[in-house]
Amino acid sequence: METDMKKRPIIIDTDPGIDDALALAIALFSDRLEVKLLTTVAGNVSLEAVTENTLKLLTFFGKKVPVAKGCAEPLLETFVDASNVHGKTGMEGYDFPAPDTAPLLEEHAVNAMRRVIMESEEPITLVPIAALTNIALLLKLYPEVREKIREIVMMGGSITRGNKGVMSEFNIGTDPEAAAIVFKSGVPIVMAGLDVGLKALVLPEDSEEILHMGKVGDMAYHLFKRYRGGSFGTGLKMYDSCAVAYLLKPELFTVEETYVEVELAGTVTRGCTAVDLKGYLRQKPNAKVCVDIDGEAFRVWFKQSIQACV
Ligand code: RIB
Ligand code: CA
Repeated sequence: METDMKKRPIIIDTDPGIDDALALAIALFSDRLEVKLLTTVAGNVSLEAVTENTLKLLTFFGKKVPVAKGCAEPLLETFVDASNVHGKTGMEGYDFPAPDTAPLLEEHAVNAMRRVIMESEEPITLVPIAALTNIALLLKLYPEVREKIREIVMMGGSITRGNKGVMSEFNIGTDPEAAAIVFKSGVPIVMAGLDVGLKALVLPEDSEEILHMGKVGDMAYHLFKRYRGGSFGTGLKMYDSCAVAYLLKPELFTVEETYVEVELAGTVTRGCTAVDLKGYLRQKPNAKVCVDIDGEAFRVWFKQSIQACV
């Protein structure tokens, strides 16, 4: 166990969500990350449901981390959930114990994030694995936090096609205005989009191994049976774990620094992340974009990480 390494302080903004659940497990059980706060935002399912799911996961994992509820809907876009992918509750497939609600703060997520960031001696890494509504409001309401944020390491966007719209990935497409604010903020960004998420697969043989990896493995297996982000039989997409994997094993990724702009006005391309790898827009880079992942090495890392959730 690497106990002498300083833990990297992070805040995860999340919408559990089956893939969120696994990303949260890996981050919470890692001895290299200090999860200072979990904030929730409407996305896969409603704000109430994702907040209850976050509390259920903390109770199940036996982890004590403050939770703050954020925005119930996007800044402008009409909210449409992804319950078709994650089930009505957002975490169908496993019967979690009743959540301990003690970690739930009265504070709004945006105010809690500001407090934690400003109180921290070390710059905080924000890890949004959901729509960027809370993050955008944080940056607009409290610009003083910008210099105390080390990086925003997000699951979101796509260099190519979408999974919510023709060209829009779900987290960006859920709140395009929020995403545009974040990409224009000047805060260092790492974008782990569909380009890597679609290759971050749990194959059937992996699921069978994971089933026997303690109670978190058993939970994962039963959630996977219900998860429609891919197929149990051919490969389940661990989108959100890519953001955590970047923090813990960045060598899994091929990364390019480039300019990213969120399309807001397109009638059929709204929510697209225009990743300008060829420099057509002649803009300075504003993000490190994960353009590829070693899928085989990810599978090994993912299983080792679930094994470590004890
Ligand atoms: O496009 C995938 C993203 O949308 C993931 O964060 C998943 O949990 C959903 O929120
Ligand atoms: Ca998510």
